[in-house]
Amino acid sequence: MPAKRPAKIISGPVVAESIRAELRDEIAALAKKGIQPGLAVVLVGSDPASEVYVRSKRKTCEELGIASFSHDLPATCTERKLLGLIAKLNADARVHGILVQMPLPKHIDEQRVLNAIDPAKDVDGFHPVSVGKLLNGEPTFASCTPAGCIELLLRSGYDPAGKHVVIVGRSNIVGKPLAAMLMQKGRGGNATVTVCHSRTKNLAAITKQADILIAAIGVPQFIKARMVKDGAVVIDVGVNRIADATKKSGTRLVGDVDFEPVRKKAKAITPVPGGVGPMTITMLMKNTVEAARRTGAKSGKKTA
Ligand code: GUN
Repeated sequence: MPAKRPAKIISGPVVAESIRAELRDEIAALAKKGIQPGLAVVLVGSDPASEVYVRSKRKTCEELGIASFSHDLPATCTERKLLGLIAKLNADARVHGILVQMPLPKHIDEQRVLNAIDPAKDVDGFHPVSVGKLLNGEPTFASCTPAGCIELLLRSGYDPAGKHVVIVGRSNIVGKPLAAMLMQKGRGGNATVTVCHSRTKNLAAITKQADILIAAIGVPQFIKARMVKDGAVVIDVGVNRIADATKKSGTRLVGDVDFEPVRKKAKAITPVPGGVGPMTITMLMKNTVEAARRTGAKSGKKTA
């Protein structure tokens, strides 16, 4: 048997850059109408991973010419104070999108906070109105990581239409909205979707049926080669830090997929880092630009 070629690497940064180029044009067109998209990024506490994500979101805003409004609150911040800030941001015409970085400290009810965001500014797509519209197939802000996975597939030539997509993970942030988007009629949809999770029996028998396998379970290197069909496309949403004595820091980032062995079996695969991560941020920017475009279209005048 001829040696199989290792999988094509689907590059998040390359696909993300092509979308950012489109966004720059849209931002320039909005500037001509006197509109600058604005994103408020709220961080509560000092979770190291959240700090990295938030920094990256703010930096990308700067690079694209989106106004970024930073609100860093201490871990001891009360829910009431946070809700007060959200009310102010809802009323601020310069702010088109509001992002509250998750997770929040334990004493704050995350759902109550998400519910307080004006759905018109819900660029994360986490508000119940956005989730409901997504399920109904109405236009809405699509959650950034699932939307990023779908754009990665489409722009790499792997349209999910008609394919069996198996998602491992059922979180509100990734698994559930991703399943809804993939089963939708229209671009990026029309897939046959199976959602597996920690209580699924015979998981490997199901993942092996996937034409497209999406791992979003939060367990380092959980998907092994024996769980993957020959020639499958594998999208790895996981970001996990594991011990690695060969690194200066003593740790390294890995996904939810056992990359090297799976790469030998798959047709295409996303690496970690360099896969889904940059796409999540780019889709957030896209939603923010869209939010600004909608308010501009509604008022027909400057928003700032
Ligand atoms: N925490 C992990 N992913 C996300 C995300 O996409 N949005 C927010 N707000 N918090 C997150």
